[in-house]
Amino acid sequence: MYVQKENEEWQANYDESQVPPFTLPELLKTVDGRPIATAAEWEANRPLLLQQFRDVMYGRRLPLPDKVSYELISEKPDAVGGLAVRREIRLTFSMNNGRSHSVVMILFIPAGAKKKVPVFTGLTFIGNHVICDDPDVMITGLAGAEIKSFTRERGIQKTRFPLAELMKEGFALAVCSYHDFFPDCPTGWPASVLRIFFSEEELRPRLPDASAIGVWAWGLSRMLDYLETVPEIDASQAAVYGHSRLGKTALWAGAEDTRFKLVCVNDSGCGGAAPNRRLFGETLYCMSRVSDGFGHYWFTHTLAPHAMHPEELPIDQHQLIALIAPRAVAVHSATEDLWADPRGEYLSAWSAGPVYKLYGLEPLKSATPPPPDTPVGTDVSYFLREGKHNILLSDWQCYMAAFRHVLARM
Ligand code: GCU
Repeated sequence: MYVQKENEEWQANYDESQVPPFTLPELLKTVDGRPIATAAEWEANRPLLLQQFRDVMYGRRLPLPDKVSYELISEKPDAVGGLAVRREIRLTFSMNNGRSHSVVMILFIPAGAKKKVPVFTGLTFIGNHVICDDPDVMITGLAGAEIKSFTRERGIQKTRFPLAELMKEGFALAVCSYHDFFPDCPTGWPASVLRIFFSEEELRPRLPDASAIGVWAWGLSRMLDYLETVPEIDASQAAVYGHSRLGKTALWAGAEDTRFKLVCVNDSGCGGAAPNRRLFGETLYCMSRVSDGFGHYWFTHTLAPHAMHPEELPIDQHQLIALIAPRAVAVHSATEDLWADPRGEYLSAWSAGPVYKLYGLEPLKSATPPPPDTPVGTDVSYFLREGKHNILLSDWQCYMAAFRHVLARM
């Protein structure tokens, strides 16, 4: 059986036959061990379970700013070849102590929509300028400009944003750079939006009971606050989506903010949809090592001491997926993304099923993952894309189908 080695000797296990046996925490049990038999009992326990995830993994619930203001920076009525109205909006969060912090959102709304439209909300790696080639889109994400992966090059991630298809299908898309909420590096704390709530001393080297993922998820909720004010958008029809570390973030945002009616989790892996207890691909231990330069600050400080022994944690990720219920969740993996443990991601989605059943909703039907490129499920859905770690049109097609299912049920 695979045994994790410490520090530099750590190596990922990619051999299914070497995965040590493990047992997931029982889903239909309260945090103090009583059985749960109804949706009402699940809901009574839900805040306690959510709090465990805050304590153990994603950090405290952050406050709201004293004041928020929105400023329209630009509007282009014929973006995406005439299919979209494109806007850039500055969201400014201020405190009565005089501190403030701004981010810039880019919003695409289907042109000529006759009624209010549903919206996908997400964060982008790098900045808003990577999602399309438009030369007049503001360069954002500059809070992360010192990070090696940052670039001012436009459109380099446009394949991850099938804007024309989204617009044709009647979905708006709202995106901000994750760096502008929290620069994605271990020293990101003092430059993050947390600086409006905490002093520089409190944020150095880090806030122990907060996490970058927690801040990014908070940002997604603040984006949704703004979307609630947009006349063309029906913010009661909002989905949150995210890829990779931002897939972990989407899952957490969906657990914390029940206004998101659909949660799309792409290649989220360890700390996302993959079970903490399953030692395949990346593990919590690997991710929480400070020496790697990333990962550890994505989570709260309390996770690291338990990361080598995930069986000690009171929670596992199928419970996080279940916290989305009765709202819909779409979990995606990619065949070549073994680091993110596709089989484990499916296992968590499947294991969340009993809570969906309590609500009379449809869980995944089979304990066995489907073959590649074969989407399954409705309220809980799963898709294993053939290929590498990425988010591509075929993922979006499934997310749009999941969204249509949600809208039909409303
Ligand atoms: C690394 C990390 C993953 C993460 C991914 C990403 O591979 O180990 O946990 O999901 O980066 O966000 O791209």
